[in-house]
Amino acid sequence: MRDISGDEFYKYQGFFEKASEIALYYGFRPIKTPMLEHKGVFVSGVGEETDIIGKEMYAVRARGGEKLALRPEGTAPIVRAYIEGGMHTLPQPVMFYYYGPFFRHDKPQRGRYREFFQFGLEVLGTQKSIADAMIIQITAIMLEEAGFKNLCVLINNIGDKDCRPRYMRELIAYYRKHVNNLCANCRQRLKTNPMRILDCKDEKCLPFKEEAPQSVSHLCEVCKQHLKEVLEYLDTMKIPYKIDHTLVRGLDYYTQTVFEIVNEEEPKEESKKEHGGASHGEGASGATEDKVEKEDNEKEAALLALAAGGRYDYLAKQLGSRRDVPGVGVAIGIDRVVELSPSYTLTPRIIKKPKVYFIQIGFDAKLKSLAVIEVLRKTHVPIIHSLSKDKLSAQLGSAEKMGIPYVVILGQKEALEDTVIVRDMNTRSQDTVKVEKLADYLKKKI
Ligand code: HAM
Repeated sequence: MRDISGDEFYKYQGFFEKASEIALYYGFRPIKTPMLEHKGVFVSGVGEETDIIGKEMYAVRARGGEKLALRPEGTAPIVRAYIEGGMHTLPQPVMFYYYGPFFRHDKPQRGRYREFFQFGLEVLGTQKSIADAMIIQITAIMLEEAGFKNLCVLINNIGDKDCRPRYMRELIAYYRKHVNNLCANCRQRLKTNPMRILDCKDEKCLPFKEEAPQSVSHLCEVCKQHLKEVLEYLDTMKIPYKIDHTLVRGLDYYTQTVFEIVNEEEPKEESKKEHGGASHGEGASGATEDKVEKEDNEKEAALLALAAGGRYDYLAKQLGSRRDVPGVGVAIGIDRVVELSPSYTLTPRIIKKPKVYFIQIGFDAKLKSLAVIEVLRKTHVPIIHSLSKDKLSAQLGSAEKMGIPYVVILGQKEALEDTVIVRDMNTRSQDTVKVEKLADYLKKKI
């Protein structure tokens, strides 16, 4: 977990402002859910056997024994909020955007933190493929706005309750034949969560991926049609994609569409094949040398998913809803966006270059200074000032160094007379102005 301040903070805020604006134009509304939820929301929603819940969740016990957890993701809480809020009575679909910190006890490295920030979108209450396509399109637009130019959508369809069981039987039968050659984790996964074997990056398991049965070859007509339509939308919108047969995602609630978006700035063929799982906290390679580990981390960071999501048509029932609420969504990893963008320019709207350096000298001036700053704020004049420096020359020097065009000086004499001196730093000319006239004076000048 890190402290984020100054320019780095502004980058996060800049992304949030741009992404919220785009989401609002597309008809999404904001939602904020609590940072702590009942642990059960995640255990039932995301799945007990996933790494996110089994290994990485910060679970806490409140006084009185209540089992809570710091939210590791945002989709299950939003579906919980939909059910609790009786939102099925609203016009469907209900479309939300959200932003905030999430927590996973992951192995920290570049692009992977224990507190990280997501911007998410969820469309609840429709099965239509246009919702999947819209989510992918908006995400691509947001990432492009953040400076990514070579985005690629890795997409797969993992079936629904009708066709998935058949696929699982085939997958289990295939991996059973190779069970003695799998890593210890995957031998366990074969019993608990067989699809996750496809996501394993262990050298021992990689050779079996190629021949493994693919979910798209086992889809029922409904899922086949859904995938076909989503791809047609992507073609129409000219969004580059690759069908990735090993993409299964690290959360259990998905059905049909799953996807990740990566930036292919520097395509690295052999590592690309290994991309699966990079976003799911599988940990780094076992390299011991610092340098090798650093290189591995860099390589992994370049391949990390910037955003990921999919469809979750059965999640609402898992969380106690009496009716099905089909849904689809995405979460963008803002830490990765800020860190990995080749040309990041998003800044918050409130960031203004200071136009005035405000100088106050002596206690009487300081007493009045806060009222003068309020006059400047109401006039929309952003300032910079030093509360600690008392010498005029030092403060003028700072203004000069920073290239600030005007200086407003409030000294002992000015404080008594309710005036300030306004100095034009370019012409070196200055005027004494009554505080009550300051707003009008500056409006004409600036
Ligand atoms: P996820 O793949 O676990 O999905 O996370 C989404 C994105 O969050 C990742 O692609 C990555 O950019 C970022 N992320 C995840 N873990 C970390 C971390 N430890 N440090 C930095 N960034 C991270 C979900 O969370 C789903 N709720 C997405 C979703 C929304 N599916 C449907 N709707």
